[in-house]
Amino acid sequence: MTRINQVRNLLQERNLDGILLYKPENRRYISNFTGSAGYVIITKDRAIFVTDFRYTEQATAQCQGFEIIENSIPNGITDVLNDLGINKLGVEEDYVTYGQYQDFSKKLPNVEFVSLEGFITKMRSVKTQEELSYIAKAAEITDEAFQHILKYIKPGMRELDVALELEFFMKKKGASGLSFESIVASGKRSSLPHGKASDKVIDKDDMITLDFGCIYNGYCSDMTRSFFMGKATDKQKEIYNTVLEAQETSLKAVKPGVKGIELDKIARDIITEKGYGQNFGHGLGHGVGIEVHELPHVNVRGTVPMEPGMVITIEPGVYIPDFGGVRIEDLVIVTEDGYQVLSKSTKELIELNYNN
Ligand code: GLY
Ligand code: MN
Ligand code: MN
Repeated sequence: MTRINQVRNLLQERNLDGILLYKPENRRYISNFTGSAGYVIITKDRAIFVTDFRYTEQATAQCQGFEIIENSIPNGITDVLNDLGINKLGVEEDYVTYGQYQDFSKKLPNVEFVSLEGFITKMRSVKTQEELSYIAKAAEITDEAFQHILKYIKPGMRELDVALELEFFMKKKGASGLSFESIVASGKRSSLPHGKASDKVIDKDDMITLDFGCIYNGYCSDMTRSFFMGKATDKQKEIYNTVLEAQETSLKAVKPGVKGIELDKIARDIITEKGYGQNFGHGLGHGVGIEVHELPHVNVRGTVPMEPGMVITIEPGVYIPDFGGVRIEDLVIVTEDGYQVLSKSTKELIELNYNN
């Protein structure tokens, strides 16, 4: 069934006259539009894309199956909705701002606004083969970048230099952008779960966490590896092996029907048993797609069973302030009979020889 028809089923089920979408990721998913301004309106018998002069030509080329209406943005949208005579309109409750809601209410006094309750976001959580191929390609570029950076990184470089090289390499390989600003956290900074690359200089014997990903054809990848510039100490090895055991054990439990909360518990129990429960303060993972963080939840909020075609991360970590931290993150597809790991980079403990 086409995505437009899935939306039309919802209209019928929820007794809506139409829906209005403009969160960029949902808009792209439904209409294929990659620009920055536009509104999707779907009613029982019309699929409309409203955009302004800047994007009319692009929308005509990209939004197959939609009538393109050129109007001023955002003011024209209420005129179009008025002309359609809609009474009950589904909207993105997590995206419409209070100001926009006030404006809509004033200009459309007879329209009842109804929450879509994340309908499109839930649709997006199960991927088609085509979407999976884009995510796999983004993951492949990410793996290649990691291989490259292991040869590139040397004591004396700033974390920012490493982040820049990652970005340059991935874009050269076909990525259109980064999934998020790369995390390059070295030495004691590796205890920061989201330690964005800074001007800190990487030292001999630093432990280093790289968490990064790229966008390929609109879809994200996400991977983390921690490694050592020189030899790891016994304590660093113990932490690394604890995180690795938690990561591999929870990964092996991925299959249709399992819930994010159950996967989270598997990893958390292992880390807690080793005495580091307090040092694993975030969820096990998350869904990945057009957004780097999307459904399904892979944490204590993950009460929805996994389905084939979902893409998730499995990324436990242990972070010790004033010491350092380790995280290991793989990107994984839920398949009919289990899982497929897209991140191919080694998870064996890496000790770089900085004298070479
Ligand atoms: N740093 C983003 C993530 O791994 O979820
Ligand atoms: Mn990540
Ligand atoms: Mn992640």
